[in-house]
Amino acid sequence: MTLSLAPTVQTSAHDKQIEALLDLTFGLSRRTKTSYRLREGSAPAAGLSLIIKEAEFGVVGAISFWPLRIGAIGRPALLLGPLAVHPQRQNIGIGRALMHEGMARASALGHHLIILIGDASYYGRVGFRQVPEGQLEVPGPVDPKRLLYLELQVAALAAAQGLVLADWRWQEINALRAAT
Ligand SMILES: CC(C)(COP(=O)(O)OP(=O)(O)OC[C@H]1O[C@@H](n2cnc3c(N)ncnc32)[C@H](O)[C@@H]1OP(=O)(O)O)[C@@H](O)C(=O)NCCC(=O)NCCS
Repeated sequence: MTLSLAPTVQTSAHDKQIEALLDLTFGLSRRTKTSYRLREGSAPAAGLSLIIKEAEFGVVGAISFWPLRIGAIGRPALLLGPLAVHPQRQNIGIGRALMHEGMARASALGHHLIILIGDASYYGRVGFRQVPEGQLEVPGPVDPKRLLYLELQVAALAAAQGLVLADWRWQEINALRAAT
C-alpha cells in the first residue's frame, strides 16, 4: 500500500471525492454547522486547499482555509476547515501533515491569524488555543471552548475583536455603509 504524507493542492478534479469524504466523516448534517455559515458564498483562500491522496484509495485527507474579516475595522483572518481524514486512514498523521502544510503555506502567503471551531484537545497539539470569551462573535451557536485561534504573527489576535464574517459579506456591508 502506498502512503504519501506529502499534501498537494486540490483541483476541481478532486471535488466529488472531497465532498464524499466530508459526508463520510462529518455526516450529512454537516452543512448546518456555524463554520459553514462562515464559508457560505465564499471561495476558499487561494493556494491553501490541500489533499493527501493514496494510489489505492484516492483522496484520504483534505483541508481548506477561508477568508474572513473580523470586527468593524475588518482585520483579515483565515477560517480553517473542514479538516477530514478517511475513517480507515485516521491516526497515522494525515491530519497533522495537512495542518502543518496549510499553516506553513498560510504563513508564507502573509496571513496573520487562523481561527476554527473544533476540538481543543486535537488542535491544541499544533498550537491552537481557546479564544478568550467575548473577544470574537460568530454568526451562529458555538461552544466557546471550541472557538480556537492560532497566531501566524505575534499579537494578531489582540488586533482582532468583534464579529467574524466571511470576507465577501464584510465587504458588502461596508460598501453599503459607505453608500449611506
Ligand atoms: C480529527 C481528524 C481530522 C484527525 O485526523 P488524523 O489524521 O486521524 O489525526 P492524526 O493522525 O494527525 O493525529 C492522531 C492523534 O490525534 C488524536 N485525535 C484524533 N481526533 C481527536 C479529537 N477529536 N480530539 C483529541 N484528539 C484526537 C488521536 O487519538 C491521535 O492521538 P495519538 O497521536 O496520541 O495517538 C480525523 O479523525 C477526522 O477526520 N475525524 C472526523 C472529522 C472531524 O471530526 N474533524 C475535525 C475535528 S474537530
